Amino acid sequence: MNLLNELRSLFEPALLAVGADPAKVPDYLGMVKPSADAKHGDYQANFAMPLAKVLGKKPPEVAKEIIDATPTDGVIEPPTVAGPGFINLKLTDAWIAEQVQTIAASDRLGVAMAATPKTFVIDYSGPNVAKPLHVGHLRSTIIGDALVRLLRFLGHTVVGDNHLGDWGTQFGMLIYGYRTFLNKEAYKSDPVRELARLYVLVRNVGGTIDILSNAFTNFRDQAAFEADPVAELTRLYVNGLKRAKGSDDDDDEAKGPFVNPVADAYRRETAKLHAGDADNLKLWQEFMPACMEEIHKVYRQLDILPMDHELGESFYQPMLAGVVEELQAKGVSETGDGGSVIIRFGENNVALIRKRDGAFTYTTTDLATIKHRIATWKPDAVLYVVDFRQGHHFKNLFTAAERWGFSGVEFNHVSFGSVLGKDGKPLKTRDGGVPELSTLLDRAVELGGHLFELIHWQRAAMGHDVPKWDEISDAEKQEIARVVGIGAVKYADLSQSRTSDYRFDFDKMLATNGNTATYMQYAYARCRSIFRKGNADEKAFRTRPPKVLLTHPAERALAVQLLKFEEVLSNAAAEYLPHYITQYLWDVAKAFSGFFEGCPVLTAGSEELKASRLLLTDLTARTIQTALGLLGIRTVERM
Ligand code: ARG
Repeated sequence: MNLLNELRSLFEPALLAVGADPAKVPDYLGMVKPSADAKHGDYQANFAMPLAKVLGKKPPEVAKEIIDATPTDGVIEPPTVAGPGFINLKLTDAWIAEQVQTIAASDRLGVAMAATPKTFVIDYSGPNVAKPLHVGHLRSTIIGDALVRLLRFLGHTVVGDNHLGDWGTQFGMLIYGYRTFLNKEAYKSDPVRELARLYVLVRNVGGTIDILSNAFTNFRDQAAFEADPVAELTRLYVNGLKRAKGSDDDDDEAKGPFVNPVADAYRRETAKLHAGDADNLKLWQEFMPACMEEIHKVYRQLDILPMDHELGESFYQPMLAGVVEELQAKGVSETGDGGSVIIRFGENNVALIRKRDGAFTYTTTDLATIKHRIATWKPDAVLYVVDFRQGHHFKNLFTAAERWGFSGVEFNHVSFGSVLGKDGKPLKTRDGGVPELSTLLDRAVELGGHLFELIHWQRAAMGHDVPKWDEISDAEKQEIARVVGIGAVKYADLSQSRTSDYRFDFDKMLATNGNTATYMQYAYARCRSIFRKGNADEKAFRTRPPKVLLTHPAERALAVQLLKFEEVLSNAAAEYLPHYITQYLWDVAKAFSGFFEGCPVLTAGSEELKASRLLLTDLTARTIQTALGLLGIRTVERM
């Protein structure tokens, strides 16, 4: 049950009757909103002011007219008008109680399936294979995973597709590294480690001069160079390094003519691979499973749902020539300099889809991918959960897709900001590199374990009812450490507005107070412990929920929050914003905390009241667990 929609539909007939015209007052139903201040009610309707303008009447007059023509249906108390014409709406206690009892009996907590289910393709994670996953891959992977879970829960068909970068320069590096620097023993015993070592080695020996030569050719300040060559070279080098770090783009055309011999060699290996060289292709096939195993290991660590498809860039290679031909034939693209093929979007805005040397680009692959996805899955929407830096690429891509004839499909770049260090600068390891994701996650689990142990002893010292430390098995401790540590990392990320940057800070994400996973997981465990302590069977509260009594403001406040679940999920799904769910969790947890303090459960004054409070406790636990679950975060029964 979507609370907001219930209220909106209550008002709709009356609005039409007074002459509300969507052409003149757009989205007047959208002006029914949760109340900014609970003192004034649960919701408020702000449409009287703009309507009055259109109708040439006074706002309070219009407000009164609408109220008089709106049936309260037992859902709301008779509305009141405040200030310049705000209509305050308060749900009736009887209706709240009845609805809570109803959703307690629902295994979906009253959340309806989407009335018009859609098919979504979600493009997420998409790491460049053969480089170790780093913290930059975190956001796409967990935001994408959360959207898959959420949209599926709401009844949509979701196809998750991992658009792997499995055909780029990095394989030329591996092939070159394998032929030049391989440690056979190491490769035999741990191929993934050895490949990672080769990758880093080749990148380093192939990188430095390369960066400098490019910067020297393209960005040199000649006067500065003549005045002080060393200073100018240093400046160029530093800026070049920054540019190289800032993007994952391996389009080599921009690079200057002075080429590092190692870089030259590995690029030739890449070109040979792309041209179908049998030996290089064989090596590529040999490397891929090990690389994928490494990536899947991190996904398992992260508790990511298995992906439906992992059709990487290599999958589309055979289609690229055909795609360019088709785009040329349809006049979507045109011939550029030296036989290249481009798509023009503006005077200074073109995308290259075939280079002079015949090579295809990231854009060509993405166009082929669109065609394949639409032909295969016939989606209503394709979502790209990708870093904000690729905004320009996607804007052009979607324009090209439309010109190509793929209209009527929602293409959406679900963009996100960067993960920064505690100091607000790009996250770095002590030696200046980008931290590997698996190292960070291991650390999170370790800290999760420490936190659990710390709190355990604190609670024991305070006389709380906790199990003896030695009686908790190692397996359970390990499980709790994982649930707490990984949950903390994911929640910290998902609770940020997607488009903002955020600071990766273990202290904050593992705080036991505040809007963190740890806090929610404890709230859940606390609900469960009430049931254990009271020897109550939660199943009874789900199959035959007792009558709900709202005798205390904290009970009412909690009950209203629990009824908002569907409204929140549908808002989060409409804007692809998981942080609406964490905001909601925070509201639920605060309401529960008020309830827990103000309303004794097991020692309530009567059996009826105790039953009602147990129901609220159980429904809180289920709501927290389900909401966390939609974010890909787990709970444990006791902590
Ligand atoms: N592999 C790309 C990168 O690391 C991300 C892929 C995003 N998806 C896409 N269809 N382009 O930058």
